[in-house]
Amino acid sequence: MKDTLTELNADRLRDPARRKLIAGSGALGLTGFLSGGVLSVPLNALAAEPPATRALLGFQGIPASTADAIAIAPGYRAEVLISWGDPLVNGAPAFDPDGNNSAADQEKQFGDNNDGMSFFPLDEQRGVLAINNEYVNEPTLFAHGGKKAISLEDVRKSQAAHGVSIVEVQRDGEQRWRVVRPSRYNRRITAQTPMRFSGPAAGNSALQTAADPDGLQVLGTFGNCANGKTPWGTYLTCEENFDTYFGTRQADYAVTPAQQRYTLHPAEPERNWSDFDPRFDVAMHPNEFNRHGWIVEIDPLNPDSVPVKRTALGRFKHENAAVTVAKSGELVVYMGDDERGEYIYKYVSHGKVDPARPSANQTLLDNGTLYVAEFTGDAGGTPLKGTGRWLALQFGQHGLTAENGFHSQADVLINARAAADVVKATRMDRPEWIAVNPHDGRAYCTLTNNSKRGDEGMPLNAANPRPKNIYGQIIRWDEQGDATARQFSWDIFVLCGNPIAHPAGIYRGTPNVTADNTFNSPDGLGFDRDGRLWILTDGKYSNTGEYQGQGNNQCLVGDPVSGEIRRFMVGPKSCELTGIAFTPDYKTLFINVQHPGEEGDSHFPNNSRRPRSSVMMITREDGGVIGA
Ligand code: FEO
Ligand code: CA
Ligand code: CA
Repeated sequence: MKDTLTELNADRLRDPARRKLIAGSGALGLTGFLSGGVLSVPLNALAAEPPATRALLGFQGIPASTADAIAIAPGYRAEVLISWGDPLVNGAPAFDPDGNNSAADQEKQFGDNNDGMSFFPLDEQRGVLAINNEYVNEPTLFAHGGKKAISLEDVRKSQAAHGVSIVEVQRDGEQRWRVVRPSRYNRRITAQTPMRFSGPAAGNSALQTAADPDGLQVLGTFGNCANGKTPWGTYLTCEENFDTYFGTRQADYAVTPAQQRYTLHPAEPERNWSDFDPRFDVAMHPNEFNRHGWIVEIDPLNPDSVPVKRTALGRFKHENAAVTVAKSGELVVYMGDDERGEYIYKYVSHGKVDPARPSANQTLLDNGTLYVAEFTGDAGGTPLKGTGRWLALQFGQHGLTAENGFHSQADVLINARAAADVVKATRMDRPEWIAVNPHDGRAYCTLTNNSKRGDEGMPLNAANPRPKNIYGQIIRWDEQGDATARQFSWDIFVLCGNPIAHPAGIYRGTPNVTADNTFNSPDGLGFDRDGRLWILTDGKYSNTGEYQGQGNNQCLVGDPVSGEIRRFMVGPKSCELTGIAFTPDYKTLFINVQHPGEEGDSHFPNNSRRPRSSVMMITREDGGVIGA
């Protein structure tokens, strides 16, 4: 049955006078709807009816859950592969459930808060997982249970729990995988691991420090959110909230506009590394701040390889790196910058991928054009649809000149946010992951939420049409099969909402949101071989008020054609689910439980004294393809 709201809006769209009004307001057609006193986004924009069921989603959807346990679709099992603190490299001590492992222990153990990850097959029964360890939960990391590091040893332990864990896994006869230990592949990359810069900003004066006067070498990676995988078999790890690691006790330290653009708050460093490790004191070493916020390439199959920060991809709060190869051969990387009002980027290599010469491909991430997206409304005034352009962030063009403070391409890349401001890209509702549909090349991006949308300085726009957007949306764009294209069309795959709290109106969501699948804050995103869209959430789990009936954070699966969405899995208390990696046969899916019990309310997994972020291995009891 159509709801009256849908019919009402359908009528409005049919009304020629109204249509003229929308068309007349141009790119902000939808804004006109909202600010003109009409209280809803026209929810029939994508479909008048809830989507039909078709065969793509082969599992039974499950109800929301608030239990301190995994809930998963019938016929599936979710088991722990590895958890924070588990021994990883040779000589690693056992995990201490009271937090007494030292910094030196942690350097040899699996890191904390596992996030994005990729699977690299060795043969049919063996593979290597590269897994980000984004940040730490201090109350569980430290024996003292405090929210801050209180000594250099604490800082070193925190640094050792960050970065990336490389883990060899082997499948036994029952489709289950186990960690191989010892293994020549197992490796920890931390906030202290030596790496190098490459690309246009390598060696730039803004990257030079007392410890590295050439601006070519850097220690460590941290804030490693999500990931990407290149066609030549390397791992991309994406540095996100790097600003939270820098501070100073120098009371009169003046934050520069460039630092401010990356939200540096030096008086209140979230992890207070700067109190004990001077490298993170921005008054003492201001350029160290510029050496983070990049995408780092790692060869997971070469334990001796030095990770490389690829500056051509720009510096911002990187979420993931969705890599695809254009039909014409160029490497294309779609990237989101996760902060309210930040942008979506695309990188296109100058050269072409050469499958026969993997080493030649390494320079593709150093020589290319970085673009940023502008989303405009549909010229016909159709809501939740429109067109867009990719604007090149090229020194000397479009105002990226000395007058605006840019003196080189390195300046543009180091200050990518400021460059995107100059070319007037579209401010989005916190871009998180991007995934490319292998069947049609369309790219999907989670815009997780933006409670400040519609406030002063953050006006509504066609692609971000909802004020106080607490639920988020998934936008997708279509480049007509040419990933190098400068133009695209876009629409909204789902405007998330809660029909339980809001039976009608803009917070109800598009028709593919129902009382049975309602969720907020889509974040992780990935496609499987068959074209199922896997959606992971990192949102509010209060299960009350605006979030009633949504339960804990969850994993859902969408059908990109019909729009149908079903709940597949729910995580334990106060966690987020993140990271998504399939084995090549699509019979095992790895998903991460990150920060279970961040509210002090979980003993996940296995009734652990301290909750532990863990990699979950998901298989089907009948050994079939996941989701089919
Ligand atoms: Fe690390 Fe935007 O999530
Ligand atoms: Ca995320
Ligand atoms: Ca998030």
